[in-house]
Amino acid sequence: MVRVAMIGFGGIAGAHRYAYWYFQKAGLPVRLVAAADTDPSKFTTITKINIALRGEMTDELPFHTYTDWREMLQKEQPDLVDICLPTFLHKPVTTEVLSMGFHVLCEKPMSGAYADCLEMIEAAKAADRHLMIAQCVRFQPEYEYLQQAVADGRYGKVLSATFTRFSPFPTWNSTWRMKAGLSGSCLAELNIHDIDAMQAIFGLPQTVSCLLQSNVYPYDYAESVFTYPEHKVTIKSAWYHEEYEFNAGYAITFEKGALIHKDGAVFFTDRDGKTERITVEDADGVMGEIRYLVGVLDGDGINRRNPPEQSAQTIFTLEKLYESAVHNGATLPYGD
Ligand SMILES: NC(=O)c1ccc[n+]([C@@H]2O[C@H](COP(=O)([O-])OP(=O)(O)OC[C@H]3O[C@@H](n4cnc5c(N)ncnc54)[C@H](O)[C@@H]3O)[C@@H](O)[C@H]2O)c1
Repeated sequence: MVRVAMIGFGGIAGAHRYAYWYFQKAGLPVRLVAAADTDPSKFTTITKINIALRGEMTDELPFHTYTDWREMLQKEQPDLVDICLPTFLHKPVTTEVLSMGFHVLCEKPMSGAYADCLEMIEAAKAADRHLMIAQCVRFQPEYEYLQQAVADGRYGKVLSATFTRFSPFPTWNSTWRMKAGLSGSCLAELNIHDIDAMQAIFGLPQTVSCLLQSNVYPYDYAESVFTYPEHKVTIKSAWYHEEYEFNAGYAITFEKGALIHKDGAVFFTDRDGKTERITVEDADGVMGEIRYLVGVLDGDGINRRNPPEQSAQTIFTLEKLYESAVHNGATLPYGD
């Protein structure tokens, strides 16, 4: 049984809490035993964020609550600590929790700076504990399907790829207020999901460029272009007004036709115009990543699909994009 304690019980924590509840009921060897938040009102509410919970939580098993996470860890001695804190706390809290001897699942972005990510990886190695970053889109069924299609070549080679992610402005979230720059930008909050998925699917790009604008809110529009030897990838993200309905998708042109993810569905249209709806599992990326990590901890202990080095590489890419953005979208070699 993997016993979990969460630190930070605000916005995205609701999706994690739902996943633990769902998997407990489904009989997976995982249980949420405790949660800590400096704001105790978070234990009795579900913060409304840009994406709705997948369902209602009924007969939730009780868990202990704390306002001091160190006290929680000392008393509860969980197996896994799930960190859903604002981005600027990811590195200090993750490294301390690892040094206390607990495995860590930490929300994305891994940190605001690549150098921090390297320290987090070192802390995990020194403590001989797992560190996984909650880059949930690589575990989202629609993107898992795309990854498989690219890997096995069922639709031929990729000719071009576009990913989009448009969201209401995150008024509930304290992260963007902390530093309306790299770690608080739409680039780091939204674009990052597709960047991480892109790197999981296609590997590392050869060049990057990024336009980052502040139209209504600070850094509320990001458009990034990546070149690969045989195709380009474009990733667009924006924060719109508070009532805007979140949507994310992709359009991938293959030699044999187009694979489109739109309005929650996936379709393939071949060169003759014949369209097939692709059936994928009814789950989200947060559920996928939590089920995966529980499987790693309860299984052979090897995290093949989402090692922290790859999450750090995603932050490296963000820094490159930010560098391009301050140079008016200049195309930069990816480098190393
Ligand atoms: N995976 C996703 O799709 C996704 C979506 C939204 C946010 N996020 C990421 O999750 C992180 C949190 O975002 P959020 O929207 O949940 O923010 P949030 O502000 O709603 O939640 C953070 C919570 O941490 C608590 N907190 C702050 N300092 C604390 C401390 N020292 N000890 C205990 N609790 C403390 C706050 O009271 C708050 O409840 C950010 O890094 C964000 O980028 C990921």
